[in-house]
Order: sequence, then structure tokens, then C-alpha cells
Amino acid sequence: MSEISQIDSRLLQERPQHIAIIMDGNGRWARRRGLPRPAGHREGVKAVRGIVEACRNQGIGALTLFAFSSENWRRPRTEVRLLMDLFINTLKREVRDLHANNVQVSFIGDRSAFSDKLRRLMDESESLTADNDGLRLAIAVNYGGRWDIVEAARRLAAEARDGDLDPSEIDEENFSACLSLAQLPEPDLFIRTGGEQRISNFLLWQLAYTELYFTETLWPDFDAQCLSEALEWFAGRQRRFGHTGEQVERLKGA
Ligand code: FPP
Repeated sequence: MSEISQIDSRLLQERPQHIAIIMDGNGRWARRRGLPRPAGHREGVKAVRGIVEACRNQGIGALTLFAFSSENWRRPRTEVRLLMDLFINTLKREVRDLHANNVQVSFIGDRSAFSDKLRRLMDESESLTADNDGLRLAIAVNYGGRWDIVEAARRLAAEARDGDLDPSEIDEENFSACLSLAQLPEPDLFIRTGGEQRISNFLLWQLAYTELYFTETLWPDFDAQCLSEALEWFAGRQRRFGHTGEQVERLKGA
């Protein structure tokens, strides 16, 4: 077996296949302009549109966006309602365009808390775009990384209870297969806008080896140029996955 085997492609890759983003800073963007917070969220939707297009142009395979965390219910009721309306209106308005651009849309998170209308729109968007083979866009709503891990544990526990799985057979591979985004490669690049440097219960398991990029830029200002800067930063990173820097350099020189 060669010194560095099955992870070669990730070590050599200069461009992320999968980008995951925490879109932070909508409220501050609005406040700095003397506008109410909803104006920041609406501008945030425009930034989403721009980044989806930029990812398509850059040949990125998958993009996961954290649109609403399981903790965001703690926001004032009026803001939560506004965000739900914004999701509904955005989906209604954008899904045909996404479909026309060959984008495959999916949602991760616990949908049970959402209105029938929103759940229906999510289902319809997924069905409509299921066969598209361009950018795979996953939108995390009422999502939490701990929730995701607990759900996977529950599924495997149920299989064990039913006699379909011996607990000693549980490993990282079959555990990962029960998590959200199992169908995608793990994110190579994580971006958080808005200046905070934390993961905030986003993809806890999936980010184990992801390069973390933090920027002060507020989400509504994050445009194609900002994405290019993040990609340039990523290209300069040396990913090692436990190997030494010398091993990686040797592989790259080979
Ligand atoms: C964080 O900014 C942003 C959110 C909690 C909502 C994100 C939603 C969007 C960008 C729009 C909808 C997206 C889709 C995919 C339909 P914040 O409010 O925490 O900003 P602050 O930290 O400045 O207060």
C-alpha cells in the first residue's frame, strides 16, 4: 500500500468540492445603515443568490448554507415569523430559477417544527430538482450538529434493538452514513462571515477535517470577490489528515 492511500485526492485538491457557510451579520448590516433587522435578512437573501451563482461559476460541487439553527427559535417571535415568511417567499420565487440552472436543492434539519406550507414547499423543491446534476445546494433549517448526531445514534440503536445490527459493528463509516449530508463529500472549506470565530452547533461531525475560514465581512456584503478570496486562502492551505507536512510535500511533488 502506498504511503498515502485513499485520501490522496483531498490532499492534492486546490479547490474545495464542498463549501459550508454560516451566514452571519445580517442584523448588524442593517443596524449600521439605520435599518430594521428584516432589511438585513432580505439583503442576506440577495447574497445567497450571488454566492450560489458564484459557486456554479467556480465549479464548486456542493454548498451547504446554515439558514436557521435549532437555537434560532430563541429570537424574538416577530423575527422568527419574518424569517419563516422569507424562507417561504424565497423558495417560491427562486426554485424554478435554481432548477433551470441545474441546481439540486435539499434541506437538512428537523422539519417537524415548520408549518405545513413550508414543509410542502421544501418537499416540492427537493422533488423538482432531485435529478439535477449541477451544484448540490443543501440548506440547513432548524438544524443542529448535536441533533444530527443524536438522530444517527437513535437510528443505529433501533437497528441494534431489532437485531439488524450488532453494536460491535458500529463504526465511523456506518455512523456517518446515518448523518445529514451523507450523500456529499465532507465539507473542505467552512466559511463564517460576521467576525465571530465559532462553529455554533453547525456540522459538528462533518467538519472534523474542514479548513475553517473566518471573515469580518457581514453576510449581505459577502460577494463573488469575497468567495474568490476564501478560495485563494484555501488553495494555500496544506491539508494533512494526520500525515506529516513532509509526506504531503513529497506526494505533491511526485
Ligand atoms: C444571521 O445573521 C442570519 C440568520 C440567522 C438568518 C440567515 C438567513 C438568510 C441569509 C436568508 C435566508 C436564506 C435562505 C437560504 C432562504 P444575524 O441575524 O445573526 O446577524 P447579527 O449577528 O448581525 O445580528
